Amino acid sequence: MTHPLLRVQDLRVSYRTPAGDLPAVDGVSFSLAQGQALGLVGESGAGKSTIALALMRLLPRNVAQLEGEVELEGAALLSLPDEAFRREVRWRKIAMVFQAAQEAFNPVLRIGDQVTEPMIVLGGMSKAEARAEALRLLDLVRLPGEVFQRYPHELSGGMKQRAVIAMALALKPKLLLLDEPTSALDVTVQAQIMDQLKDLKRDLGLSVIFITHDIALASDICDTLGVMYAGKLAELGPAEAVLARPQHPYTRLLLASLPRLAQERPPQFIPGIPPDLRAPPSGCRFHPRCPQAFERCSREEPPLLAVGEGHTSRCWLAEGPGSSRRGTPE
Ligand SMILES: Nc1ncnc2c1ncn2[C@@H]1O[C@H](COP(=O)(O)OP(=O)(O)O)[C@@H](O)[C@H]1O
Ligand SMILES: [Mg+2]
Repeated sequence: MTHPLLRVQDLRVSYRTPAGDLPAVDGVSFSLAQGQALGLVGESGAGKSTIALALMRLLPRNVAQLEGEVELEGAALLSLPDEAFRREVRWRKIAMVFQAAQEAFNPVLRIGDQVTEPMIVLGGMSKAEARAEALRLLDLVRLPGEVFQRYPHELSGGMKQRAVIAMALALKPKLLLLDEPTSALDVTVQAQIMDQLKDLKRDLGLSVIFITHDIALASDICDTLGVMYAGKLAELGPAEAVLARPQHPYTRLLLASLPRLAQERPPQFIPGIPPDLRAPPSGCRFHPRCPQAFERCSREEPPLLAVGEGHTSRCWLAEGPGSSRRGTPE
């Protein structure tokens, strides 16, 4: 049997805060095949970045708990000593484009020196080898070679973001984590970067975890969608199924909040705000904001229930025979 590229089982991460421990990721499981893209979507604070930082082992210092299983090509990752993780995994097998990364370039160093640094320091390449490789990567992300000589302030936001993606690919990772990679860019540039990412995924057979608050954007590149709410997956399934037959009321609200030209009604806003994770609501965490909540929802937390082939929803509406009928909007 072949392993998926990545398997995450019951991942739990909590942060220590002055007001008590905050469970940011609370039992998240998914797997990702080689060459596939998984989208993690949901409002700010859902725990999306925490998942990516846990996979890169770059969590902030105030982590109180990190538990669960993470396997990359069948090998356990969480138990790997730091030194081995740094030597073998980070940037070489799993790379990440951080939220707002295009603003993180050192302003006094040329782009070329910043792109070649990981190849020289981590990859053991000579300066000349690294330069040749950097030019290849710049070309791969459709940046002209002259960018190598430029300083960050001489590039547009979109060019900087391409350079960041080139840097993340420097050590030929199999898995690329993209955390809100286009959020700071205007819509046209965003569309160009998305096309670029789709090409890279196809041409390099790259696996991708695409993190965004924008479910429409995620649907553009993702094979699978995971909708996160308050540290948990609310819904997980094939992207077409989640978009065409969303089962969790939260997913439906996320989709209804998208502006659509051919729609009679204006986009809906999701009422309320996500809960304080230090004192989450009883039962289903979404119930205080859910238009379809009933009595059981405030008492008992639903598990992820099967609603279709590889498609699950953490909602009591999905339970029992006839659930698929009950689960569709009226
Ligand atoms: N270093 C930290 N210390 C305490 N709480 C944190 C820290 N980082 C993130 N959080 C909290 O963890 C939760 C999840 O955050 P995050 O993973 O950044 O979510 P997302 O990326 O979905 O916006 C939020 O409630 C956030 O405030
Ligand atoms: Mg985030």
